[in-house]
Amino acid sequence: MNTELLVSDAAHFRIDYEINPYMHTEVQPDPAAAAAELDEIVAAHRLSGRRVEYVPSAPQCPDMVFTANAAVVRGNRAVLGYPPPERKAEIPYFHEWLTRRGFDVLDAPFPFSGQGDALACGDLLLAGYGQRTDRGMHAVLAKELRYEVVPLRTVSPRWYDLDLAVAVIDTGTLAYCPQALDLPSCGRLQRLGLDLIEVGLDEAAQFALNLISDGTTVTMTRHAPRLAAVLRGRGLRVLELDTTELAKGGGGVRCTALTLDNPSPREPS
Ligand code: ARG
Repeated sequence: MNTELLVSDAAHFRIDYEINPYMHTEVQPDPAAAAAELDEIVAAHRLSGRRVEYVPSAPQCPDMVFTANAAVVRGNRAVLGYPPPERKAEIPYFHEWLTRRGFDVLDAPFPFSGQGDALACGDLLLAGYGQRTDRGMHAVLAKELRYEVVPLRTVSPRWYDLDLAVAVIDTGTLAYCPQALDLPSCGRLQRLGLDLIEVGLDEAAQFALNLISDGTTVTMTRHAPRLAAVLRGRGLRVLELDTTELAKGGGGVRCTALTLDNPSPREPS
């Protein structure tokens, strides 16, 4: 599964505004601790054999450390995110980086939280809507990236991005918090015929599901010991990481990386 990730840095990570219920301008991250947290996450990716690419953060972009919202990438195409106004200034930096790296980069015509609301699972794209992503984006993603889109709606702004409520462990296994999704979405997930691991509200609220799995190693928060134990019980190697400072921005491990190597669809033979 995925092995190439784009990360930024925490040099300008601040809480300047509150665009999700976890952000409070009176609770600022400790700069040294935030930098150390991101360093540990990057070190864990490298230890797992993942390649890490880097885009420097810009001073006027206090959320740029959360690169997952920048775009969603498949093969050589990237569809950029269309974030809330507070994060608009980030997009040109990602546009430039992805273009320079040779991707064919498309703008999103509707609000879109990038990979925060787009979880690739083989040819499926588990796609959030109703919070940061307009449902109109699903047809765009299906057409431009040739994914089969599975629409999933979270029930409250606590799950402003789908990557807080659902995680892809491997192409046959998902983890999810049933209470975070509406009933039709739970039904759609259950009918996929994949193996499903249920995660409780308490651990999901600690960003348990905001993890990165390559099918062998899972990098995740250390604040969800039950999920970590379940994954180890299934034979996965689990690296548990501190996410205390990132949590002040409403994010965890997965938010800090954009996957660059989602495989292209197979050509029909
Ligand atoms: N403060 C950021 C925001 O609200 C956090 C983004 C976290 N990203 C994610 N993929 N869940 O936009």
